[in-house]
Amino acid sequence: MSDSKVSKIGVLTSGGDSPGMNAAVRAVVRTGLYHGLDMYGVMRGYSGMVEDDIFKMESRSVANIIQRGGTILKTARCKEFFEYEGRKKAYDNLKKRGIDGLVVIGGDGSFNGALKFSKEFDIPCIGLPGTIDKDIAGTDFTIGFDTAVNTAVEAIDKIRDTADAHDRLFIIEVMGRDAGYIALHSGIATGAEHILIPEKKTDIDQVVKSLQEKEKRRKLVNLIVVAEGDEFGGAEEVAKHVKGKLPHIDTRVCILGHIQRGGSPTCLDRLIASRMGYHAVESLMVGRHNVMVGIQNNKMHYTPLENAVKAKQKINEEWMKIVKILAS
Ligand code: F6P
Repeated sequence: MSDSKVSKIGVLTSGGDSPGMNAAVRAVVRTGLYHGLDMYGVMRGYSGMVEDDIFKMESRSVANIIQRGGTILKTARCKEFFEYEGRKKAYDNLKKRGIDGLVVIGGDGSFNGALKFSKEFDIPCIGLPGTIDKDIAGTDFTIGFDTAVNTAVEAIDKIRDTADAHDRLFIIEVMGRDAGYIALHSGIATGAEHILIPEKKTDIDQVVKSLQEKEKRRKLVNLIVVAEGDEFGGAEEVAKHVKGKLPHIDTRVCILGHIQRGGSPTCLDRLIASRMGYHAVESLMVGRHNVMVGIQNNKMHYTPLENAVKAKQKINEEWMKIVKILAS
């Protein structure tokens, strides 16, 4: 804990957007204003800090956004911020306004930037986990995951209808460059026969064998949900292999893509974004600095930014077993 008092807080959204980021911005701004602080929005992530695109926010600045996907502050991945000179420029732009606290809503890449910045300069940072991938340690939820996974479930349910009508095998690719949570959650929730994720080695021969075995039993409708970052490859790669081995099976590919990143946030995402946003400001005020605000077991949980960027969440082995047993 540190004693320094904050009086002016900047807030930004960085990295890939996620539904609920607006709800988090709203919570940060309104909590700060409630405590009599000056609140500033930074446009396009760290780019706005480097390029001095920073503006004062009032209560009305965040009106009517809790239900909106995307982010009113826009987002970007900023190369200049990787360099010390860029971070120094950013610091000068905050300092000239007297901004003495920063809330960064984003994923681990964004937290890495915040960590470096907070070590070099006297501006404490708070991270809020905003990513659809749910790949950040120290929190049960990340802002946007619930919405993204529900979007995937809705889409996969629709695919199952047409798969069923034609007795087809569908290979569906969901997002997750390094993490398989969207695949795992949406796959279990839609009764997928196979779920392929980056965290687990994909035994493609086993997948083929299992499809052959199902065919013998006249189980012809099968869904394979694959995370885009699976080490075997995405849906196209998996389909190429399966079609090569089982050319007679009617197979189609569907890549869900960025629809998973958009849309109105679910109740859960709005709720966690509101709680995290509120606690981000409270943390700065009580001197709990350079932490990520998360939620564990329905309680607020604070992880030093160092640890939030180092570790990923762990896949629950039991879940993989459940997939196998239930998809017979
Ligand atoms: O936000 C994380 C993520 O959605 C990954 O799952 C995905 O690989 C990536 O972003 C896509 O990023 P971009 O929109 O920059 O292509």
